[in-house]
Amino acid sequence: MPTVDKPVVVGITGASGAVLARRTVDELLRREVPTICVCSNGGKLVWQDELGESFNTALAEWMEHPFFTSYPVSDLRAPIASGTFSTAGMAVVPCSMNSLASLAHGISNNLLLRAADVCLKEKRPLVLVPRETPVHSIHLENMLALSRMGVTILPPAPAFYLQPASVDDMVRYFVEKILVSLSVNDELSDDLRYNERSQD
Ligand SMILES: Cc1cc2nc3c(=O)[nH]c(=O)nc-3n(C[C@H](O)[C@H](O)[C@H](O)COP(=O)(O)O)c2cc1C
Repeated sequence: MPTVDKPVVVGITGASGAVLARRTVDELLRREVPTICVCSNGGKLVWQDELGESFNTALAEWMEHPFFTSYPVSDLRAPIASGTFSTAGMAVVPCSMNSLASLAHGISNNLLLRAADVCLKEKRPLVLVPRETPVHSIHLENMLALSRMGVTILPPAPAFYLQPASVDDMVRYFVEKILVSLSVNDELSDDLRYNERSQD
């Protein structure tokens, strides 16, 4: 497993899939990767709806970890708002169509968007996990524009060929894909890779 000394930023927006954000932060901290978290107001709403707990509860738990830092989404003075603050990159997970559109058009009127925009301008790894279905042409054009700028677009699409038995199996797969995209993991775990047994 590569050593990641610089912090990874995790942006959480108001798309469905709060569990993906929770597990991404959990897994980064389990690997002792310095992790900086910023959650939009929409992200907090969806968190409550989907996980049945307030985002602040999770925040309080993560704050116990020495490798964890968080900033309010309104805090445009936070270090991650500046390109001079070095990071290993950022994942926006899940990524709403609203935040996707802002990023595709250089709009950064909150800390989450600004931190992602910094990754774009500094050419650092940026992974977006867009969650919407179906998608219309503007969504697709926004994804294409960002992909052309080097962004990894990683929709949470299940690997059915791995025959996931539970939501937890799928979440683990997506989170590992995110960690590989950020070079936190070298590769997927053996059981998450396609092999002859997957075809049984
Ligand atoms: C329960 C719930 C689920 C939502 N799911 C999605 C979704 O999957 N994708 C999406 O783009 N927006 C979704 N939204 C709408 C966004 O939260 C909304 O557009 C919000 O303005 C996004 O703001 P943000 O990008 O600052 O987080 C959802 C809203 C709620 C309340």
